[in-house]
Amino acid sequence: MRHLITTDDLSSEEIENLFADAESYLLKPPPKLLQNRLVITLFFENSTRTRSSFEIAAKKLGADVVHLDVARSSTKKGETLYDTAANLNAMGPDAIVVRHAQSGTPYQISRHVDCAIFNAGDGAHAHPSQALLDLFTIKRHFDSDIEGKKIAIVGDIKNSRVANSNMRLLPRFGIEITLVAPPHFMPETDFPSTSRLEDVLDDVDIIMSLRTQTERHAHPIYASLKDYAADYCITKELIGERDILLLHPGPVHRNIDIDDAMLADPRCKVLEQVRNGVAVRMAALKKLILANG
Ligand code: NCD
Repeated sequence: MRHLITTDDLSSEEIENLFADAESYLLKPPPKLLQNRLVITLFFENSTRTRSSFEIAAKKLGADVVHLDVARSSTKKGETLYDTAANLNAMGPDAIVVRHAQSGTPYQISRHVDCAIFNAGDGAHAHPSQALLDLFTIKRHFDSDIEGKKIAIVGDIKNSRVANSNMRLLPRFGIEITLVAPPHFMPETDFPSTSRLEDVLDDVDIIMSLRTQTERHAHPIYASLKDYAADYCITKELIGERDILLLHPGPVHRNIDIDDAMLADPRCKVLEQVRNGVAVRMAALKKLILANG
């Protein structure tokens, strides 16, 4: 049984094939390859774009989609996660898309079901479909010439599953990462790192800005997000005329992560990431569901 729990679940060749599919879905209406297939979305944590992106992706390929309203579900009545998973599994889905505040939950669920589990974000651990769509967006922007390109990942890296998945995935494709964050947002890694955004600006091809994950902080770290913005907001003034691709997984804290002027600038591809996300998730759903038979 194939799952997408982390980006390591796919070989580099599989990722290239997946991107070829995604590219074709952007260009022409997709075939209904998942007709009569059932996809369940199970979100224990809030989501706007990831959930709708998976649901739209599944529907575009002809699948039936059921969203389980967790706020009203039996886990609220004391049912364990495993029993919830086993009961959903008994309804015969082809895939369950799971988001949970606790790292490891999608993996644990995958051991109790016989359908594909898609990790739509687990705690600060992983968000593989986001990293895949980020890489896809980078590849398209640079016409596939990405070997040796340099990216700065900026912000609350330590608490970001998006950063974590990108730190696993991007180096596999030759992209060089520098981490830019204040000490309390900096994870322990072997990547080059700095706390000063100015240090990297003349050296990078891509900036990936991240949202401060206030919901994952046991104690508020900054007195206000404005203090953070003073050092890490990606402003037009800061970027100037540099040829830098600007990414952000969303939701953006406007004028904290990225200022109004940069959000409106053509170098900022946030909405293209969202558009690409549907195509990449279509390709991933197709790949795993059909592989599982
Ligand atoms: C991210 C997430 O939920 O991990 N958003 C997303 O999936 N588009 C990042 C975030 O919440 O900051």
